[in-house]
Amino acid sequence: MSIYSVLWPIHAVLMGLAFVLMLTAMSIARYQKKKRWWYTLHKRLNLIGAGAVVTAIIIAVIMVSLSHGVHIASLHAVWGVVTFALVIATPIIGFGIRSRKVKPTYKKQVRVIHHWLGRFTLLSLAITIFFGLQIAGLI
Ligand code: HEM
Ligand code: HEM
Repeated sequence: MSIYSVLWPIHAVLMGLAFVLMLTAMSIARYQKKKRWWYTLHKRLNLIGAGAVVTAIIIAVIMVSLSHGVHIASLHAVWGVVTFALVIATPIIGFGIRSRKVKPTYKKQVRVIHHWLGRFTLLSLAITIFFGLQIAGLI
């Protein structure tokens, strides 16, 4: 069994897990804001999800290096890099919503940017997963 065939399912499962965690976190921010715990859970689930994405990308780079060695060579990989940027930017902007360092006059803009980046992050993850499943020959 090659190292590639061991690593790609780990990469895929971590990404699937991240998607489910972030979708749950987003639904909590949308539908459970009356609950005391919504913010803590939204933040934690998203940070764990982002950690899973970072880990899975490192695994992807290692598996490509150890096999054909040509990086960012598919639609999946290109979209994966865009998704990665969104997964990093969205939580950073998220922290800005309640940060004292952000002036109250800019708070509304920061919130709106976070909402839209969050939605694009989820959409982009779904698209990358679709192309990933195609490369893996599962769909
Ligand atoms: C079910 C989900 C997924 C499957 C089955 C999957 C599968 C794969 C496979 C088989 C490769 C190796 C491609 C090659 O040999 O050239 C790969 C590479 C890659 N994947 Fe995924 N993937 C999934 C989800 C994701 C997601 C959600 C992201 C981004 C957030 C992502 C980012 C990447 C990147 C950036 C590479 C290229 C690494 C490089 O070129 O060094 N993948 N994926
Ligand atoms: C990749 C990670 C994240 C994603 C995908 C994400 C996504 C979202 C989305 C889509 C919404 C809007 C929900 C709606 O439709 O009403 C939202 C709201 C919010 N998020 Fe995040 N989020 C992430 C991380 C974070 C983090 C780390 C924080 C805080 C440190 C945070 C703080 C907030 C706050 C305070 C709101 C509510 C804003 C308001 O309406 O007042 N988010 N998030």
